[in-house]
Amino acid sequence: MSLNGTSAHLSGPGDLPPLVERAARTALHLDFAYSCRPEQGRLLSVLAAGARRIGETGTGCGVGLAWLVSGMRPDATAVSVERDPDRAEAASALFAGLAPQVRVECADWTVIGGHGPFDLLVLDGGGQGKDGGAPADPVALLRPGGLLVIDDFAPSGGGTPAFGGGPDSARLHWLDHPLLRTVEVPLAPDLAVLLATRRA
Ligand SMILES: C[S@@+](CC[C@H](N)C(=O)[O-])C[C@H]1O[C@@H](n2cnc3c(N)ncnc32)[C@H](O)[C@@H]1O
Repeated sequence: MSLNGTSAHLSGPGDLPPLVERAARTALHLDFAYSCRPEQGRLLSVLAAGARRIGETGTGCGVGLAWLVSGMRPDATAVSVERDPDRAEAASALFAGLAPQVRVECADWTVIGGHGPFDLLVLDGGGQGKDGGAPADPVALLRPGGLLVIDDFAPSGGGTPAFGGGPDSARLHWLDHPLLRTVEVPLAPDLAVLLATRRA
């Protein structure tokens, strides 16, 4: 999770898409610091342009989802799942009037499976395989060629990724997955993302 994602949005140059700014202000209002970083958001908006069906686990207050909306095609739809009722309600209200093609559900991330398969799936709150949680099944959730995005890693600089004094098993799960092609992409000196496509 990005410790300063919400404040990074609101202390930047002021060039945010209006919906992203509203989501970041909602996060600030709810005292939620862990929105995605702007670097990740800008990547999401670019990736969204190629997808018809988009999913996200861990809506937070909707900052990443708002970036996705800023890049989505008019015929695309998105669903995001958040287990915290206050955040889910705030994000749902934000998108209800402004982006009717977007749905926010208050539930555990695993219900995302009922809304797939996806062309683009962002795992940001459940399903990443971090903290001992079960990783999502990309075959069940992605269309062939579909893209998975997993955020919030420290750049490994080309070496074996490490975490907590040992190999980063969560990251290696995705990098070595036999049914995916996965690459680590640095977004900032302290931030990297994994992009993985499902093999046909
Ligand atoms: C890093 S924040 C998400 C930030 C958001 N995607 C953004 O871009 O602003 C992670 C969110 O995932 C939610 N979350 C964590 N575990 C979850 C689970 N098992 N099911 C659903 N949501 C979960 C947390 O409540 C938190 O709001």
